[in-house]
Amino acid sequence: MTKPQRNTYVCQSCGATSARWAGKCVACGEWNTLVEETDAGPPPGSGIVARTKGRVVRLESLKGSTQEAPRFSTGIEELNRVTGGGIVPGSAMLIGGEPGIGKSTLLLQLTANLARSGRRALYFSGEEAIAQVRLRAERLGLADAPVGLASETNLSNILATLAEGKAPDLVVIDSIQTLWADTLDAAPGTVSQVRAAAQSLIRYAKMAGSAVLLVGHVTKDGQIAGPKVIEHMVDTVLYFEGDRGHPYRILRAVKNRFGPCDEIGVFEMVSGGLREVANPSELFLGDRDAAAPGAAVFAGIEGTRPVLVEIQALVAPSGLGTPRRAVVGWDANRLSMLLAVLETRAGMSFSGHDVYLNIAGGLKIAEPAADLAAAAALVSSISNVALPRDAVYFGEVSLSGAVRAASLQTARLKEASKLGFGQAILPESGEADTSGLKVKLSRLSHVKLLAERALTCD
Ligand code: TYD
Ligand code: MG
Repeated sequence: MTKPQRNTYVCQSCGATSARWAGKCVACGEWNTLVEETDAGPPPGSGIVARTKGRVVRLESLKGSTQEAPRFSTGIEELNRVTGGGIVPGSAMLIGGEPGIGKSTLLLQLTANLARSGRRALYFSGEEAIAQVRLRAERLGLADAPVGLASETNLSNILATLAEGKAPDLVVIDSIQTLWADTLDAAPGTVSQVRAAAQSLIRYAKMAGSAVLLVGHVTKDGQIAGPKVIEHMVDTVLYFEGDRGHPYRILRAVKNRFGPCDEIGVFEMVSGGLREVANPSELFLGDRDAAAPGAAVFAGIEGTRPVLVEIQALVAPSGLGTPRRAVVGWDANRLSMLLAVLETRAGMSFSGHDVYLNIAGGLKIAEPAADLAAAAALVSSISNVALPRDAVYFGEVSLSGAVRAASLQTARLKEASKLGFGQAILPESGEADTSGLKVKLSRLSHVKLLAERALTCD
C-alpha cells in the first residue's frame, strides 16, 4: 500500500516548510513565496529506505594518512584559480548567476577542453535543444570536441545514462531548475524538485567519483528558488557575476571545501565566447580619462591577487530636500558612513549635494581598504580638482577618521609599480616594502590630511 501523500507549503526563497499556506514566510519574512508541494518521500537513487535497522559505522581518529585532494586541470587558467587548482573528482559544484550572463558558454568551453584532453565530459542541457547547443559550439569553434551531449530533463533518465559505460570525469547539468524527478508531484524548479535532483546527483558524484557541476539561475531579487537551498549540499559554490552592459564577467568562489574562497577569475565576453583576462588591472583601468576630477585608483586585493580599479565619484549640487546617494559596485551604507566621517572629522560638507559613486568595469568591491580611495574620489569631486594621475590609494577609514592599515600592502604596491604608478597614498602603519619599486609613498594617519595632501602632491 502506498503511503498517503501529504501536502506541505514550501517557501521558494528559503526552503522552510509549513503545514498551512500563509502570505508571508515565517522563517525568512518574504511575501508570496509559499507554494504547495506534495511530499512523496525520498527521491530516486537516494537509497533511503524507511525503518531499516542501522548499521554500525566505524569511528576514526582525526589523525591518519591524508592526501591532498587529487585534481585535474580545467584547461582554463582562471577557472583553475577559482576552484583552487582544478576540479576534484567526486566533488559537486554549483555555478550560479543571472540568466544570460554566460554560464552555458563557459561550461561548454570547459567540457570541450576536457574532452579534447582525453577526459570523458558530459553535458546535459535542459534548457536548449541539441541543435542550439551545436550551433553555439560551431560558433565557438568547439564542434570537433568529443563531448557527450544530451538534451534531457528527466532525472531518472539522466541517472540511467550516467550509470552506463565508463564513469565520466565531469557531468554538467544545465540547469538544475529544469530537472524533474517523476516521483515528486511538484513542478520543475520548485524547492523540492531542485533539492531532490541535487541530492541524487551529488550522491552519484560521490559514488562514481565523477565531478558534477550544476548550473543554477538566480535573478536579481532572488525570486527563483533553487541555488540557495542547495548551497550547503555541494562542495563548491561559484557565482558568475557581471553587468550585462559590460563585457567583463567575474567568477567568484563563495564556498570551497577544497581550496580558498574569495578568489576571482576574470573573463571577457567576446564574439568567440569567454576569453580569459590574465591581468584584470589593465582591463579595469583600460580607458581612463586624462585628469578628470572625482576619479581615484584603488589598489585592491581580490582573493590572493592584487587588482587595481578606478573609483569614480560625482558630487553635484542638489535641488532635492533630501539629496541623493547612489552607489554602483560598493556598499551604500559604507558610503553614508564615509560621508559622515568626512563631514565630522575633516570638516567637509556634502549636504545640499547629490553623491554618486561608481566602481569602473562592473566590479563589486567588498574590501574595507577601499575607503581611502573612495574618500579621495569624493574629496576630488567636491573640490573639482583632479587627483594625480599616477597615484593609487588604499586604507580603511575608521569612524574617528583614522586611517587603518590594510592587508597585503606590499603586494598592492608591487602591482601599482608594475602598471606604472609612481605614488601611493597609504596608511601610516603596516608593512610596505618598496625595495626595487619605483613608488613614492605618502603615509596618511588621518582622513583630514587627505584633502591637503592628496590634492597637492605631484
Ligand atoms: P549564456 O551562456 O547562454 O548565458 P546563461 O547560460 O548564463 O544564461 O550566454 C548568453 C549571452 O552571451 C548572450 O547574451 C550572448 C552572449 N554571447 C557572446 O557575446 N558571445 C558568444 O560567443 C556567446 C556564445 C554568447
Ligand atoms: Mg544557459
